Formats: sequence, C-alpha cells, structure tokens
Amino acid sequence: MEAREEWRSGLGFMLAAAGSAVGLGNLWGFAYRTQQGGGAAFLLLYVLIVLVVCLPVLVAEMVLGRSTTSSPLLAPVKAGGTLWQPMGWVFVIASCGILSFYAVLMGWTADTFFHSLFFGLPQSLDEATTFVTSVSKGSSVFLGQLLSLVLTAAVVSAGIRGGIEKIARWSMPLLFGLVIILAVWSATLPGAWDGYKDFLLKWDSSQLRNPETIRNAFGQAFFSLSLGIGIMVAYSSYLNKKNQLPKQALIISGMDTSVGILAGMVTFPIVASFPQVQEAVKGSFVSTFFVALPTGLSSLGITGQIIAVLLFSLTFIAALTSAISLLEVPVSSLIDSFGWNRNKAVIFSTILIFVIGVPSAISEDFLGKMFTYMDILLLLGGFLISILIGWFVTRTYDNDLSESNSNISVRRYLKFMLRWVSPIAIAFGLFVSVYDLVKSAIT
Ligand code: PFF
Repeated sequence: MEAREEWRSGLGFMLAAAGSAVGLGNLWGFAYRTQQGGGAAFLLLYVLIVLVVCLPVLVAEMVLGRSTTSSPLLAPVKAGGTLWQPMGWVFVIASCGILSFYAVLMGWTADTFFHSLFFGLPQSLDEATTFVTSVSKGSSVFLGQLLSLVLTAAVVSAGIRGGIEKIARWSMPLLFGLVIILAVWSATLPGAWDGYKDFLLKWDSSQLRNPETIRNAFGQAFFSLSLGIGIMVAYSSYLNKKNQLPKQALIISGMDTSVGILAGMVTFPIVASFPQVQEAVKGSFVSTFFVALPTGLSSLGITGQIIAVLLFSLTFIAALTSAISLLEVPVSSLIDSFGWNRNKAVIFSTILIFVIGVPSAISEDFLGKMFTYMDILLLLGGFLISILIGWFVTRTYDNDLSESNSNISVRRYLKFMLRWVSPIAIAFGLFVSVYDLVKSAIT
C-alpha cells in the first residue's frame, strides 16, 4: 500500500475542489439548461438549492472523507457499517458513467478549439452545421475522447500534490480571470441587454411549478457542485483537521455559482446579438455552445476568432480539472480496496471508462440521455449522504467539525439543515425528476 498523501495547503484543496466543480456544467450546461425555458425561475431555484440544500450536504460529504480517510467506495462502510456499501457503489458507478460522456464532450471542445484556431469560424448557419458535424461525428470524436482521457489519466497518475493540486493552482485563477474578461466584453455587445433579459431575467412564475425546470435546477446544482458522487469524499480524505470545512464549502460553492452565472453572461449576449444564430439555438442540446457561439463570433472577424479560441481553451482546462476529480473516485477506490498502485488503478479505470463512453461517442442522443439520467444518481448520492451523516453518524460529524474549530452556530445551522431540510428537499427533487423523465418517456 502507498502512504496516504495530503494536500500541500488548504488553499490547494479548495482550488482543486473548485476545479472539480467548475467545468462543462458551468460553461455549457448552465446556458443549455437556462435556455430550456426556466429563465429567472430556474436561476432562483438553482441558487436556492445550492445555498439551502447543497451546502449542508457538501460539508457532510467532506466530513465523510476526512473522518474516515477512506476512498468513496469504502468510506460509507467505515462510517456506517456494511449496510452502507451500496452507497459506495453509487459513487463509483456515477463517476465512471459521468466521465464516460464527459470525455466525449471534452473531445468536442478540443476539436472546436483547434477548428477555431486553424480553420477559422463558420460564417453561416450551413457552415456551422458542417462545422458541428465535423466536431461531433466520425472518427475525430474517438480521438478527442481518447486524448482527453489520456491527459486526465496523466494528471491523476501524478498524484494529489504533484498532479491534481499543481494543475488547479494555475488553472483556476486563469479561468476566473478569463471568464470575467469575456463577460465584460460580452456586455459591450449590442444585444447584451436583450440576452440577459431573454434568458437570465425572464420571469415566469409558472416555471416554479414546471417539473422540467425543477429537475433542471436540482440536476444543475448537484452536477455543477460535483456533489453526491464521492468526489468531495476522495478530496477531503487527503485533508488535515486544520481546515474549516463550512468556510471552504461556502467559498467553493460561491466560486462555482459565480462562474456559472458569468458564463451565462458571456453566452447570452452573443446569442442575442447575432440574428443568424438564433435559429441554431433552437436545435439540439449542443447547439448554443458548439454552434451558436462560434457562428456568432465569426461576424466579428479576427476579434471573434481570438475570443472563440480563448473561450474554448478555457472550457477545456475547466473540463480537465473536473475530469481528473471524476477519475480520482474509481482510482482511489481501487487503491484502497485492492492495494493496487496508483498507475495500475489509473490505467484500469481509464480503459474501462473509454469503453463505457463508446455509445456516447457514437450517438448524441445517447450522450444526452446519460447526462439526464446521471443526475438522478447524484441526487440519490446526496440523499444517502444526508441520511448517513445527519441521522446515523452524527457524532462523527460533530467531532470532526469541532476539532477544526468551526463556528458553533454555523455548525448547529448546518446540522439542522442536514437533518431536516436537505433530505426532504432532495427526496422531493428526486421524485419530481423521476416523474418528469417517466412522463416525457411515455409521451
Ligand atoms: N462539476 C463539473 C461540471 O460542472 O462540469 C463536472 C462534474 C464533476 C459533474 C463531477 C458531476 C460530477 F459528479
């Protein structure tokens, strides 16, 4: 067995956790889901769910990792006994499932980046369709998926300090800087205000009762925070007791939510400013990000090309730091369960995930379904965490947080929410999501 590593610093841990959270879910998923009709109601629900429901679960997931110093597969058993083994499996299945299609999307992103850099941007909608077809279909997809996974594997095999923490330290500040610059630039576009108004601020209170909007808000909150999947268990298991988890959880979710909103502020003005892209946006779930943005930006000539190159490179880096966190779940579980060394665990997991991802690489429809259904597993994971930590091993929770000197009233508030609010709200979210999916499957 290898000795258990530790983060170099609390800041390094936070940047790595924020690196996991900030990814395609923010830059592509947020805009995509806002556009499905929820508008400001979706945004309100999403922010409420993050603050009220997810934050206590995030702290609980961190406690589960830190108090057991175990991988996501074994931590539930170590904390609550063998009855909790299925929870570990939910974590491993969800992380492998998500990474399988996430790597395909990373491949598309890399391809869009290279296209924008070397061949320029599509000038018309016809060209855009050809552009996106070349990005999302055929053998280049497999190449992109494979290279993305290999790159992810290389970072994970370099370990916690030498790989994951190192890359998070330079990429996260860069990413933040870039997304702010792009949002400011987008605000100068002629359609900026229309963009905010049509997508982010459009208020329709009936959307608060729309099952699809509720499902999207829950799914987006959990997906974007990388919550309910054991990533925070894995990352926190390398963390010492000096770190104040509630404070760190708040900073991580603050960073994640602000990047999501900022990314929306980049995307929507572009969509609203260029009439030729409005049609494209109505299409499939890839359309806004991979069709509308490059096409819209093409009308700005070289400036547009530079912005596109920046935007897609930024997205790829954000996705990479998320992908490494997803891979760390099966990898640390294999190391922990079988005593494998890191390299062997990385190679095995990467090959497995590549194979599972083949249907997503071939069919966009399948990829979309994976994205939708995996959310259910995240909600289930979050529900189980809140029950285990909030009801079964509360002493572990109290001890862990008091050892790190977290503020007592914050602790009381979080515990109350963890026991009484999060599980009920997540159960409701799960119910509505399953209802909505079943309903849309049969109609
Ligand atoms: N949170 C990342 C994103 O928003 O893109 C990716 C991700 C990681 C999603 C882990 C889900 C997850 F469980």
